[in-house]
Amino acid sequence: MANEINKDAEVTISISKNGSYRVNGSITLLDAEGNDIGSEKETVFLCRCGASKKKPFCDASHKNADWDASLFGQS
Ligand code: FES
Repeated sequence: MANEINKDAEVTISISKNGSYRVNGSITLLDAEGNDIGSEKETVFLCRCGASKKKPFCDASHKNADWDASLFGQS
């Protein structure tokens, strides 16, 4: 089922090649103080490279960051 979204899943998390986590579905996303920071969205992109200036969201900084997921055994 590579590259397919399971329509029966309530939430699907997809790893972008050398990029973000795409979270699709109805979720609750809270910051460290418990504030809702993204629950109204059906799709959010979360940073996994550490370079985003809008963490926890991806701001596409991974494209210019010296970060390679394959160095961590990931794609
Ligand atoms: S994964 Fe996109 S900015 Fe980190």
